[in-house]
Amino acid sequence: MLIAVLVAAPGAALAQLPATVASPDGKNVVTVSLDSGTLRYALKRRGANVLMPSALGFEFRNAPRLKDNLRLVSVARATHDETWTQPWGEVRQVRDHHNELRVTVEESSAPGRRFVAVFRVFNDGVGLRYELPAQDALQQFEIMEELTEFSFATDGRAWWIPSFQWNRYEYLFRASPLSTLDTVHTPLTIELQSGLHVVLHEADLFDYAGMNIRGGKEQNRTLRVMLAPMHDGVKVRGATPFVTPWRTIQLADRAADLVPSVIGLNLNPPSKIADPSFVTPMKYDGIWWAMHINVWTWESGAKHGATTEHAKRYIDFAAKNNLGGTLVEGWNVGWDGNWINNGDKFSFTTAYPDFDLKAVAEYAKSKGVHLIGHNETAMGIANYERQLDSAFALYKSLGITAVKTGYVGDKTVEGDAHHSQPMVRHYRKVIETAAKYGIAINAHEPIHDTGERRTWPNMISREGARGQEYNAWGGDGGNAPEHETILFFTRMLAGPMDFTPGIFDINITRPTGQPRSYESSRPRTTLAKQLALYVVLYSPIQMAADLPENYEGQPAFQFIRDVAVDWDTTRVLDGKIGDYVVVARKARAKDEWFIGAITDEEARTFTEPLSFLTPGRPYVAEIYADGKDAHFLTNPTSVAISKVPVTSASKLTIKLAKGGGQAIRIRPAVNGK
Ligand code: NOJ
Ligand code: CA
Repeated sequence: MLIAVLVAAPGAALAQLPATVASPDGKNVVTVSLDSGTLRYALKRRGANVLMPSALGFEFRNAPRLKDNLRLVSVARATHDETWTQPWGEVRQVRDHHNELRVTVEESSAPGRRFVAVFRVFNDGVGLRYELPAQDALQQFEIMEELTEFSFATDGRAWWIPSFQWNRYEYLFRASPLSTLDTVHTPLTIELQSGLHVVLHEADLFDYAGMNIRGGKEQNRTLRVMLAPMHDGVKVRGATPFVTPWRTIQLADRAADLVPSVIGLNLNPPSKIADPSFVTPMKYDGIWWAMHINVWTWESGAKHGATTEHAKRYIDFAAKNNLGGTLVEGWNVGWDGNWINNGDKFSFTTAYPDFDLKAVAEYAKSKGVHLIGHNETAMGIANYERQLDSAFALYKSLGITAVKTGYVGDKTVEGDAHHSQPMVRHYRKVIETAAKYGIAINAHEPIHDTGERRTWPNMISREGARGQEYNAWGGDGGNAPEHETILFFTRMLAGPMDFTPGIFDINITRPTGQPRSYESSRPRTTLAKQLALYVVLYSPIQMAADLPENYEGQPAFQFIRDVAVDWDTTRVLDGKIGDYVVVARKARAKDEWFIGAITDEEARTFTEPLSFLTPGRPYVAEIYADGKDAHFLTNPTSVAISKVPVTSASKLTIKLAKGGGQAIRIRPAVNGK
């Protein structure tokens, strides 16, 4: 629903540079200048320099770079204020309030090419992108690099994962001075010396190469865009008229103010799905963790996980426990042999003989559970695209409305980088095709989230970081206790993540009696922290990832049954990158709140006022806390469950063990209870 729209016609601004444009609250100011023929932008917040004049431009193949000898053609301005509603999300309403400046420049000598630099300045940051208008001097082009700079005025601490590595985005984050960065992924979160938080990322990526950030390595505070290449080194092939994705510079005075992050959503076009009601936020179980811990296999044989019988058991478990869906991996032909090399062998329509797809789909429907399909491509993009329509048509006919995809592999068969333009196009093609068949997509090994869920709300979640699976086989001990406290302020700023929380089998000794080597892998969290992750790590689909038998008889499982997945509002109560997060979210269209608190390897205590509750109304807080003796290494499963009457005047003391967490449901009291 549109609450208010105000778009001023481009004003008759004086065509001269430098030109400035400020955020609606006046705090963020971008200044665009032409100096020695190069177009540059600079950014201040509250009068202090954040970015010094930073160059813009392109390098082409077989053409001079577009950066020099530029002269001003025109300057135009607009302002925009609109509030729009998300069909599902971490907040229901999003306000898009910004001032826009468009600066058109052209080369003053041959070939006389022209481009437009567009700036949108919001209270929470800046978006900037290029438009290459239709023109004789520039028609077909091959971009070798985008020359956008981010020239930081001061140094800061950056949280990063490395680019162009075979594990894509699946690395543990590290922190170092921004002046020492090599090539890293976005969102790139930086805490400047002043305490200001700056996040570099991109929005509205659909026909371009994915963006990386290249540092100057040696005491150089100028960061640059580095695009993911195709096999021949070209980054982007295109023709005018053309627009690039937005480069986003999110700004926040405190880490806690980075969330909810909506600047990327505001820079994407409105929804193209007239009726997105087929997209169902839900919790789900699945034939999944059993393969990761080697109990079952994806491939056929005695340990095959995806059998009709197993699937029915998981569907029953979902139906009994308020989980909306069941995922089945390994159901389709192609997993035998080393599946990572089977990109051209997977069938997305033919099931293994011990899996009766139709019967399972009908059983799921009879139980009111969504059967979630699985398409692992192993980077066999052509093979998958050939089958897309027939596969999605089959799933639609069976009532399947969600599919998890997978892209294990470093490069395409052709040698294009995992996040190169052909892959970006592919990911978008899958979303658009799925939308035609009423199917939602949860992509693993995806391209990073650039806010496409606004335009395509069937893009429901994705991986794009080290998830829980590394706690099964990560080899390096699994994810570090600080991992999710970093994810919250980095990866999660891009959008929902299918982290797959909820592993209860975290004892040093496995239920089988077999010791579990801490050095090899296991979740390095307490059980209460596994629960808290449902609230902390936002996703409209959340997996109850463990084996059903590990939930049997566990009182703490009640929290997973109860927790919401779709929200009206989100408030970060406390947070420090790499140390802790305390977040409260209100369930959508329900007077029910959930709090998730997590810490790293340190024990911590927080006191949080519940002033967000409706005044005068009695509530009950159902608390899942770390037990007194809980410790992520020595006693991870100690949980203390309690119920406490609370009101908006109450304060809760939240105690977290080392590597611990706390999950709280706050619901209206019924007859005083
Ligand atoms: C990697 C995905 O992240 C994981 O969830 C999936 O089970 C495997 N690939 C197999 O597709
Ligand atoms: Ca993965």
